[in-house]
Amino acid sequence: MPSVFFETFGCQMNVSDSNDISLALFSKGYTEVLCPQEADLIIINTCSVREHAEQRAIAHIKQHASFKRQNKKNQKIWVIGCMAQRLGEMLKKQIPEIDRVVGARNLPEFLLEISQIETTSSLDNISYSSKNKISTFVPIMRGCNNHCAYCVVPLVRGPEESLPLSLIKDKVKSLVDNGVKEVTLLGQNVNSYKDNKTDFCDLLEELSKINELQRIRFTTSHPKDCSKKLINAVKNLPKVCKHIHLPVQSGSTRILSLMNRGYTQKQYLELIDLIKTEIPSADITTDAIVGFPTETIEDFIQTKTLFSQVRFTSAFMFAYSKRENTPAAKLNDDIPPKEKISRLKELITLQTQITKEHYDSMVGKNAFVLFTEKQKSKQQMWMGQDYGCKKVLIACNDIKAGMIFKVRIIKSTGMTLIAERI
Ligand code: SAH
Ligand code: SF4
Ligand code: F3S
Repeated sequence: MPSVFFETFGCQMNVSDSNDISLALFSKGYTEVLCPQEADLIIINTCSVREHAEQRAIAHIKQHASFKRQNKKNQKIWVIGCMAQRLGEMLKKQIPEIDRVVGARNLPEFLLEISQIETTSSLDNISYSSKNKISTFVPIMRGCNNHCAYCVVPLVRGPEESLPLSLIKDKVKSLVDNGVKEVTLLGQNVNSYKDNKTDFCDLLEELSKINELQRIRFTTSHPKDCSKKLINAVKNLPKVCKHIHLPVQSGSTRILSLMNRGYTQKQYLELIDLIKTEIPSADITTDAIVGFPTETIEDFIQTKTLFSQVRFTSAFMFAYSKRENTPAAKLNDDIPPKEKISRLKELITLQTQITKEHYDSMVGKNAFVLFTEKQKSKQQMWMGQDYGCKKVLIACNDIKAGMIFKVRIIKSTGMTLIAERI
């Protein structure tokens, strides 16, 4: 049986694409190996969002290429995803050991191609349960129409396209039939989901009707399209987890405008107030970029002030990385790398403390947790997530993956909660 090794960089969309491709290959008789040197086929799914993400992928591909050249000339190396889209066949010129390049926009056809591989294996109807997942990602749209000035995603993933409601429902039903309890709906801007008359809130309602499905999560909400209707849907639909990921990117209205984000600091803060009033228990998380062209110390202070005011449960924070052919690439990338890193460190320090305070404040409280898997480390505790986005660990032997129950939080590590069974 041929073997395949996967390496996935980038966001959940890439994780989901790799998952789909791996399932298609398994159904054709491929087995997964965890050591690249043992594999007949290596698939590297790449990300272009920051220069660093591309450099890391290139370094890994070069390592695989070097092994192939010296030891295993018949090994195949396929590079897929966003960097494959951006650099195309140029990648093969740079690293001749690459056999195939498949850009993110060609992945649907690529999947179809795999499904048409002739096989003698009888595994053709392999089920989603083959990966034994409790929680999984379900893309509901592809691409993005937003053109935030810094962002390469619309260039590599193409224009926004919502998947048909019927297809999403069938996929979720099939997942649930195979043991999945929780889905995370994926899109660059889920709030603009549209299939004829069905909008994103209707989709949440429709999926809520699937009996065995326990929990629904989604990401990402763009602040400019996060409506009162959506906040109410999150509030009122019991299966929808109380977690809203709402990337702010910057606390300065001037920078937000240069970023082409379509909202001001004031509008963002009003939205946060609305969420906090309607769903006081909600976890709100964010993304932010520091060192965007022309960002002054005053602009940066506004980002820090906003972080202190909102008190996000957690945040992903990045130093601005200039991406070719994006609108911001025309601006002078004038913040020295050292300064970007120093601002980034400052923001991370601030947020780490806020995250710790959120987690610490949970001690003594109860939480509803969906347990998904056991830790691979020595302690072998069960891992799960509360009704928001907080990670919970519990030492307990009589748990099965997929169980949801009430626990009492007894300890916080600042980024994880330790619980006991009630
Ligand atoms: N569609 C989502 C996620 C996009 S990519 C959204 O709108 O939020 C994930 C995050 O990467 C972004 O939110 C942004 O914070 C960061 N990012 C995107 N382009 C970047 C760049 N050129 N430099 C640094 N960070 C970037
Ligand atoms: Fe990029 Fe903006 Fe689209 Fe998100 S919404 S993918 S940041 S262009
Ligand atoms: Fe995701 Fe990176 Fe592509 S963030 S959409 S894998 S550029």
